[in-house]
Amino acid sequence: MDKIKELIKTRKAKIGIVGMGYVGLPLAMEFSKSGFAVTGFEVDAQKVRDLNAGQSYIPDVPTAEMAAMVNKGLLSATLDFTGLKKQDAVIICVPTPLRKSKDPDVSYIVASVQETRKYLKRGQIIILESTTYPGTTKELVKPMLETGGLKAGRDFYLAFSPERVDPGNKKYGVKNTPKVVGGLTPACTELAGLLYGAVIDRVLEVSNTETAELVKLLENTFRAVNIGMMNEMALMCNKLGLDVWEVIGAAASKPFGFMPFFPGPGIGGHCIPLDPHYLGWKMKTLNFEPRFIELAGAINSSMPDHVVARLGEILNTRGKALSRSKILMIGMAYKPDIADPRESPARDVLILLEKTGAKADYYDPYVAETDLGEGEVRRSSKDALKKIKNYDCVMIVTPHSCIDYVKIAKTARLVFDTRNATKGLKGKNIFRL
Ligand SMILES: NC(=O)c1ccc[n+]([C@@H]2O[C@H](COP(=O)([O-])OP(=O)(O)OC[C@H]3O[C@@H](n4cnc5c(N)ncnc54)[C@H](O)[C@@H]3O)[C@@H](O)[C@H]2O)c1
Repeated sequence: MDKIKELIKTRKAKIGIVGMGYVGLPLAMEFSKSGFAVTGFEVDAQKVRDLNAGQSYIPDVPTAEMAAMVNKGLLSATLDFTGLKKQDAVIICVPTPLRKSKDPDVSYIVASVQETRKYLKRGQIIILESTTYPGTTKELVKPMLETGGLKAGRDFYLAFSPERVDPGNKKYGVKNTPKVVGGLTPACTELAGLLYGAVIDRVLEVSNTETAELVKLLENTFRAVNIGMMNEMALMCNKLGLDVWEVIGAAASKPFGFMPFFPGPGIGGHCIPLDPHYLGWKMKTLNFEPRFIELAGAINSSMPDHVVARLGEILNTRGKALSRSKILMIGMAYKPDIADPRESPARDVLILLEKTGAKADYYDPYVAETDLGEGEVRRSSKDALKKIKNYDCVMIVTPHSCIDYVKIAKTARLVFDTRNATKGLKGKNIFRL
């Protein structure tokens, strides 16, 4: 332990990061900016080429900063996993999607742990960062790593540390977002804490790996449930003839005991729609029905249907049928000001609109094309904003801040704003969720 501690303190520890995506690359940057030599182990050859050429493929990582680290020899990537044996710390940041049945798909964790196991050496620390159900590190990763004879907690160190990065967040990045760590043993926790403490402002140690795993799931379940409640509030306000945004805005004036969440056309991204299901799945194996998770999931996933139905009602006020209307959707990314369309509710809305027979275009300056499945691809209509009068309704789905909503409100025949991007604007043509 003393040897690896010394290596960390002197920044001579070699850091291997498995999976160089939205999570792995920013983390690699933070370690290399602090003087650690980082190697990214990837299965995507294009990412490896880009990284080694100093070309960033993640919007939050500036190319110039990344090129500087590559040029200094502190950052590189490889498809060849044999180099894992040279690493003092291995941090795993691979995807954890859901299967079609909404059960956890831990196959990427399994594949990367299989590689890690081949090159595991005495004194190494292995940390899992991928979001997953409580028990994964102890019940899945530990036995796999121990098949070679080395014992976790005795011969090598094992910990879980949830990744909390919020893509597009200008205020909080890897360095100033507190990092939670939980190890298999107190020594594993201490070492993981020391490692992250070398590059992250604040590290919070918790009792074990399961606690650290559940922390992440609590955070994202908290968001999913609260957004679900606000979505239901929007449905109730619609029935009551009230403006949900005004209600939430006024409630948020209370300086204690209230935290605003906002409704919308559904939830998206790689985390909020998926993570609660990891917890739900685990709890079902323990014969526990996770009711909040189920209810929030049902409400949130019904929102695309709701907004399309509302759009139909709004068009009816002008004597127009949705099936014969031309609709422009603004935004395809799952949240404003980012280029990530994963699990975006905008895609569901587009599919539903097309099903009704409506002619739907979308405009998103960050998402050039979107795959609707079965080979069907739609492209962002670059000139749509110039031809706004051609559309029966403009539906604001993802409110990127670079778009002029005042102009849209002034020129569009009808606006259906699902995100309150037109806050404060008045006009008989403006309808809000
Ligand atoms: N994106 C986020 O905002 C975010 C935030 C917090 C937590 N997370 C979690 O972090 C984990 C990673 O998410 P991400 O968004 O970085 O995913 P990502 O898809 O952007 O990146 C994962 C990378 O892992 C690579 N990969 C897949 N299998 C591999 C293997 N066997 N060996 C090496 N590399 C492999 C992929 O090619 C990809 O580049 C997930 O568990 C996710 O839930 C993501």
